[in-house]
Amino acid sequence: MRRQAQRNARGRRWEWLGAGWLAAGYRPDAVSTCTIPTCPPEWLCGAATEPMWWLAHGEHEVPATLDWLSPRELAVLQAIRFRKRYVEFVTRRWTAKRALAHVLGREGSPTVLAGLEIAHQIGGAPFVRVDGATAAIDVSLSDRAGWAVCLVGPPAADDGPLGVDLELVEPRTEGFVADFFTTAEREFMARLPAGDAWDAAANLIWSAKEAALKVLKVGLRADTRDVEVTLGADERPDGWVAMIVTARDGTVFPGWWRRDGQFLLTIASVAPREPPALLDGGADLGRAEPIHSWLGAPLV
Ligand SMILES: CC(C)(COP(=O)(O)OP(=O)(O)OC[C@H]1O[C@@H](n2cnc3c(N)ncnc32)[C@H](O)[C@@H]1OP(=O)(O)O)[C@@H](O)C(=O)NCCC(=O)NCCS
Repeated sequence: MRRQAQRNARGRRWEWLGAGWLAAGYRPDAVSTCTIPTCPPEWLCGAATEPMWWLAHGEHEVPATLDWLSPRELAVLQAIRFRKRYVEFVTRRWTAKRALAHVLGREGSPTVLAGLEIAHQIGGAPFVRVDGATAAIDVSLSDRAGWAVCLVGPPAADDGPLGVDLELVEPRTEGFVADFFTTAEREFMARLPAGDAWDAAANLIWSAKEAALKVLKVGLRADTRDVEVTLGADERPDGWVAMIVTARDGTVFPGWWRRDGQFLLTIASVAPREPPALLDGGADLGRAEPIHSWLGAPLV
C-alpha cells in the first residue's frame, strides 16, 4: 500500500493510506469513532468529530414561487437574462438553503429559507448569512446539467473553506487533457483504455481541480495545472473514494470523489475529514438524467 506523509498549511500531519487521509498525532483515548477501516489505533481520522453533509436537487424540484429567496438574491435573479444562468442560480440556491436548514435544525418554510442567504465574497466564493448576520458555517455549491449539489461544513468549525464540484461523464478530447492537465495527470490518463473509463477519469480530474480551486477561492482564474490530482481507488461502502489535490507550493487538499450514474462529485477541503453524510429529502444522483431545459427557451 502506498504511504505518503504530508503536512498541511496549518501544520497538521497526515498520512495517505490509499483508502483515506488519516490525521496523525492524536492519542488513542481521544478517538471517539473512526469509520475508515485501515485506520490504525494510534491515529484519529481527522474528521471523525467534525461531520460534513451534502444534498442534491434537480431543477424540476425548485418551487415556482420565489418567496424563499432573500431580497438580495431576488435582485441578483432579476438581473439574469439567460435562462440557463437563471435555472442554475435558483437550483443552487434551493439546494443550499434546504441543506443549511437541515444542518442548522431549522424548518423549511419559505420565510425561514429566505433568511438563510448564500452571499458572495469578492471573487465569487460563497458565505452564509442567517437572518442578515454572517454565519460561521462553510458551504460550497455546484451544478451541472439541471442538478445542483451543496456541501455544508460543521457549524462554527474553523478548519477552512470547502470545495465541491459536480460534473457529467461526457466525452473529452486528448487536447483537453493536454491543455489543462499536469504531466503526471497526462501520464495517468495515457495508461487508461479509451471509452468510459478514460472519459470518467478526464472529467473526474477536472472536477477535483475545480473543487480544490474553490477551496483556494480563485476558481478558474488559476491555471488548472497549478493543482495536481491523485485519485484513490478503494471505494468505501458508502461510495466515496479518497483523493488528494496538491498545489505547486506543496499544500495538500484532501478530499473525496464518487460516481453516481452519469454524474461525478468531488469535494476538497483544507483539513482531512470524513466524507460528507447525505441529507434526507434530496435527489438521487445515481438515477438522475441530465436536464438541458434552457435549450428550448434561452432567454428569461
Ligand atoms: C468557481 C468556478 C470555477 C465555478 O464555475 P462553474 O463550474 O461554472 O460553476 P459551479 O456550478 O461548479 O459552481 C458555481 C458556484 O461556485 C462558487 N464560486 C464562484 N466563484 C468562486 C470562488 N472564487 N471560490 C469558491 N467558490 C466560488 C459559487 O458559490 C457559485 O455558485 P453561486 O454563484 O450560486 O453562489 C467559476 O465560477 C470561476 O472560475 N469563478 C472565478 C473566476 C470568474 O469569475 N471567472 C469568470 C468566468 S471565466
